[in-house]
Amino acid sequence: MKKVVLAYSGGLDTACIISWLKERDYQVIAFLADLGQQEDLEMLRERAQRTGASKVYIKNLQQEFVQDFIIPAIKANAVYENKYLLATALGRPLIAKYLVDIAHQENADTIVHGCTGKGNDQVRIELAVNILDPRLKIIAPLRIWEFKSREQEIEYALKKEIPVEVTKSKPYSLDKNLWGVSIECGLLEDPNNEPPEDAFQMTKSLLAASDNPEYIVLGFEQGVPVSLDGKTYAPQDMIEKLNEIGAQHTIGRTDLMENRIVGIKSREVYEAPAGWIILTAHKELEALNLDRITSDFKQVIADQYARLVYQGLWYSPLKRALDAFIAQTQKNISGQVRMKLYKGCCTVVGRNSKYSLYKKEFATYTEQDKFDQGLAEGFIKITGLPYVGNG
Ligand code: ARG
Repeated sequence: MKKVVLAYSGGLDTACIISWLKERDYQVIAFLADLGQQEDLEMLRERAQRTGASKVYIKNLQQEFVQDFIIPAIKANAVYENKYLLATALGRPLIAKYLVDIAHQENADTIVHGCTGKGNDQVRIELAVNILDPRLKIIAPLRIWEFKSREQEIEYALKKEIPVEVTKSKPYSLDKNLWGVSIECGLLEDPNNEPPEDAFQMTKSLLAASDNPEYIVLGFEQGVPVSLDGKTYAPQDMIEKLNEIGAQHTIGRTDLMENRIVGIKSREVYEAPAGWIILTAHKELEALNLDRITSDFKQVIADQYARLVYQGLWYSPLKRALDAFIAQTQKNISGQVRMKLYKGCCTVVGRNSKYSLYKKEFATYTEQDKFDQGLAEGFIKITGLPYVGNG
């Protein structure tokens, strides 16, 4: 029997895939990655077994996800098209790495995934698998199987006694992990519809948000958030805690008309409470501690970095090179940022650092002023020299 390793999420698609592959004489090894999606993983294991998987691997990868994927994204300030913190995109290369490992361990020569032919995740998983082991083959059932609609797939699932949870009451396509949730489909497919409140998975509605502003102080060491209100947290605990706090204040909802890798525009809604709090604070500390040209250049890099991650090029040489540049910029990104969380906004209200480049004696308008204003005249004349008289 041909052996395959399936990236199994526990949702309808990957459950149907198990059954579909079995019908075609494949032995299916399911791999479920725990990236902090907070689902009942044992129940999903049981579902995979019942549907016909010969073996189910469940691995808690949260620690590795935070250390090797989320933290680099924080240091980079990685945001795609101004609104997407890349939660899904960051998870895929990690999942792919384990798919490849398990395939080696199990002597399987094929990886199977449940991504559609229109999305980004197929590109991310296949590119990563190709880079990590080009000998492995790929099967993407959703691109080739006979079901032409969701309805047909549900009909098949019912026939195979696969539990169907995607009903009219749960009409969205979701992908959740520690770094946030991506929400698509249903009413959101019309870009003119306001996202209904039930689309949101992590944050309270603005109406239910706390009526009192909450102040927090986030401490960073070399670009990594390490403390909250003076208390030290491991990064993973910090993210969980900030997700909770941010959710109370409706922080981190975005609504994006997104350019997908395959050229389609799609409407995507995201939530990333901890992510937006951390990135807002991190950028602020960089504004305080980075010199101007490094800061300017780093913004260009941030955009390129986000695109690389989005496009599935995590395991590319350029990505490694950018990481090296970014790491160099983070040496002095230590300090504290005070923030106010209130009704959907997270506002920086204070910042301090022993590496601050702010010099009060230059900025002040009081008699403590040490800035030699006389120098400005020559500076302006020389700066204007190439242009004067050319207007
Ligand atoms: N558009 C996002 C991305 O490409 C999210 C995709 C999420 N997938 C899902 N099943 N909702 O990263």
